[in-house]
Amino acid sequence: MATSVPEPSPKELAEAFSKTLSIASRSVHADDYINNHQAVAPPLHVSTTFRYSRNPDDLVSWNNHNPNAPYDSHIYSRDSAPNTTRFEAILSSLLGAPTLTYASGLAAFHALIVFLNPKRVAIGGGYHGCHGVLEVMHKLNGLQQLELEDPADIAQLQKGDVIHVETPLNPTGEARDLSYYRRLADEKGCYLTVDATFAPPPLMDPFQFGADIVMHSGTKYFGGHSDMLAGVLAVRPDREGEWLDGLRNERLVIGGVMGSLEGWLGVRSLRTLELRVARQSENALRLVEWLAGEVAGGKGVVAEMVDKVVHASLQPEAKEEGSWLRKQMPNGYGPVFAIWMKEEAVAKRLPSKLHLFHHATSLGGVESLIEWRAMSDQKCDKRLLRVSVGVEGWEDLKVDLIQGFNALAAGRK
Ligand SMILES: Cc1ncc(COP(=O)(O)O)c(C=O)c1O
Repeated sequence: MATSVPEPSPKELAEAFSKTLSIASRSVHADDYINNHQAVAPPLHVSTTFRYSRNPDDLVSWNNHNPNAPYDSHIYSRDSAPNTTRFEAILSSLLGAPTLTYASGLAAFHALIVFLNPKRVAIGGGYHGCHGVLEVMHKLNGLQQLELEDPADIAQLQKGDVIHVETPLNPTGEARDLSYYRRLADEKGCYLTVDATFAPPPLMDPFQFGADIVMHSGTKYFGGHSDMLAGVLAVRPDREGEWLDGLRNERLVIGGVMGSLEGWLGVRSLRTLELRVARQSENALRLVEWLAGEVAGGKGVVAEMVDKVVHASLQPEAKEEGSWLRKQMPNGYGPVFAIWMKEEAVAKRLPSKLHLFHHATSLGGVESLIEWRAMSDQKCDKRLLRVSVGVEGWEDLKVDLIQGFNALAAGRK
């Protein structure tokens, strides 16, 4: 007698796809199993609340399972909502780990710290806002911030503490060796959490290098169009049950959820993530190569005004076959780099001479940005300009920079 093999569920099919499909294909299809409508483009659902079954016998506390839409069942949008669920499904596939979203990158970092509840967090430079979150936590429970690069501070780490590594780093785009910090975390019994905002897929997979939790400001490359705030936490796949459920339960009561419009925008954005990021990374590489070459050459308007250019592609390990950096970022470096001008006054003025680069904070969008970083980070060196490269033609961006440098030089004569 023939035995019937049960059909795989749409979710099982999606998981099977995730193991074989490229990042580009997963960006477009990882949420197909949730799509129970004939519309190809996802609808925007703004509802905060969802009807229970009309059959009293089907009512189960805190469970609103809908057999007609088994992967799209919701109760209240502080818990889950249709657009967010689709965004999280694609992110989980792309990051290779179960993923939750939050109202912003900092809301995600706050959720991470509240969940792991360390007594100490070792953190280096990087985005100043994360240090601000730790200061708030210090006010609440005395949490101590330790300096990641200081051996005396590292000696104070104890079991259950957190080593938080941002790589590549804000605002310079330099990378840090995650395997080194994994070894340190193992030695101390600490968690390794990674802020990978500056290197989304396909540039880097921190889980391959031992991350316990990966966070992103989804506002940047996942949003990609400078029009949504979002935060992302992905947890090590083998901790899915305990950690994902724990984070989800805490998100429900803390309430730092992302809005439905952002979920909808996020799905629209992720469809092109790989295209955008690959182009942005390539553009940045070419601009950095050109600028660093001009500085090293010592002649011309760039060399006259620029002290140095900083980016992962200029770290010595970028030239070493088989180095930790090449292994950690096999598909290119991040699209953000820093230009150190020789004088503060020149750094302050260059953005106003450019036409294609907007003078604005943030990064990761399709449009190139340049920021005199002192505008939003008071502790930053006043000669530093942070550049976030967009998807424009890189030669056009180079021409814009050249005319900007020339305009500045002309103004100084
Ligand atoms: C590296 C990094 N982490 C976290 C954040 C915070 O993200 P959000 O602005 O989405 O809260 C930022 C913002 O610039 C960032 O650059």
